Formats: sequence, structure tokens, C-alpha cells
Amino acid sequence: MKKGLMLLLIIILVFGLIGCGTKAPEEQGEETNGENGETNDEVVTIKVGTSADFPPFESHEVINGEDVIVGFDIDLINEIAKELNMKVEIEDMDFNGLVAAVQSKKIDMAIAGMAPDEDRKEKVDFSDPYYYASQTIIIKKGAEDVTNMDQLKGKVVGSQLGTTSDDIISEFQGVEVKKYNKVNDAILDLNNGRIDAVILEDSIADAYIEKNPELKIVIPEGLNEEEDPFCIALPKGNEELLNKVNAALQKIKDTGKYDELISKWFE
Ligand code: ARG
Repeated sequence: MKKGLMLLLIIILVFGLIGCGTKAPEEQGEETNGENGETNDEVVTIKVGTSADFPPFESHEVINGEDVIVGFDIDLINEIAKELNMKVEIEDMDFNGLVAAVQSKKIDMAIAGMAPDEDRKEKVDFSDPYYYASQTIIIKKGAEDVTNMDQLKGKVVGSQLGTTSDDIISEFQGVEVKKYNKVNDAILDLNNGRIDAVILEDSIADAYIEKNPELKIVIPEGLNEEEDPFCIALPKGNEELLNKVNAALQKIKDTGKYDELISKWFE
């Protein structure tokens, strides 16, 4: 009777252990297995917000019949997370809601080609820059050329709500600005002739032009020529996390991984 109980206990124990042992690998995911052979019991999943309308940084793509979010930012944040023994869960939202989502801790950070402008810096902290882009205007190929910003007076220009592009175009007197939550919708309206132009940063404009052969890029005189640094937005005051992210970013640059990602997405 005693022996029987003992056996039962052993069986329970052994199965219990096997149970845990087989569950862990799926939960950890392959990419988080440290190359240095460390165990990953402590892998933390972080929620990273983005606005997946900004190729080649982040956009939806159908791969093997499945809708996925891909891009330079997505690869970069996954590399950073790998360095920190973390796993990324991407959350797609409107760009205009990202800073508030970081601020309220709805997400752990945001990567969305975001510039650390003064307004945002009051609400969140920013990593070191990982890319620079400048503003351009997209118009229809057949349309009257725009060589000077003055020529956009009386025209309707689409911008993504809450972006630096939106701020810049909204300052031009006489230009009617139509604000969109998603860049795709602005491009759609431009294609359909509902608006006259879209303001968008260069690398992203290039990506949209490639898929919309009837559109072209112009850089009119008078358009802000300053570059927007792209940084990761983090909760304010978490210096430890900020330092870790910056150190990981630096390592990714030093090891050549950064250049690899640049050639993957921009060449
Ligand atoms: N760089 C601009 C900004 O910081 C636009 C970013 C838009 N990003 C996006 N994923 N739609 O405001």
C-alpha cells in the first residue's frame, strides 16, 4: 500500500516535470534562444506599438496567405529584443495614438519612424537615432509640376495625422490639409484624384512610388529640408531600459547587423 502510493507520487512528479519541459521551448520561440547557450527561462515579452503604413519601415504584407507586419523597424526591434533576451509582440495602431499608448504603458515601447520632437519628448523618452529622413511631396505624374511650395496654395495636401509631416504642411498658409490616420488612405485618395498631393518622408515616398507608378516625388523649394531622426519611444524615466536599448542598438551597429538590415530593406 505504501509502495503503491510512492509509485503514484513518482509518476505524478515525473509527468509533471516532462509537462514543464516540453512546454517551454514553444513559449520561448526560436529567435530568442541566446547564441551563447544561456537558458531563456526569463524571456520577457514586450509589446511594441507601430503604425504599419510606413514601408519599408513597417507595413502589412501577405506572406504564405498570412497577413504579417514586416519592415526595417520590425527587424531592428527584434534584433534589439534578442540582445535583451526579450520577445517582441507587435501591435498595430494609428500613429497619432502611439505616444499616448507608451505614456499610459498600454505598450512597452513604440517603433514607427518616429522623430523625437519637443512635444513628444515631454511625454516619452527616446532612444538614440537609428535613421534619418527628410520631407518630400508626392503628386500625380500628369499633374502640374510643383517646384515651389507656393504652387500648393489652393490645393489639398494629404498628411498623416500627428506626424512631423503634418506639422510642417499645416504651417503653410493657403494650403488645405487633409489629415489621415493611415498613410495608405492618403495615397489612395491621391490616386483617385480626391486630393492633389501627399507629404511624406523620402524613403517611405520611394516605397509608395514603387507600387504606384502613376505617382512621382517632388521636393519643392521652401519645403523643410531638415532631417527627421527616427528613434524608439520609451516610457519616461525608465533609464535602465533606455540604456539597455541604446547599448543593444550600438552593438547592432558595431557587429554589422545594422548595415545588413539597411541593405535588406533599402537596396
Ligand atoms: N517621422 C514622422 C514623425 O515622426 C512620421 C512617422 C510616421 N510613422 C508611421 N509609422 N506612420 O512624425
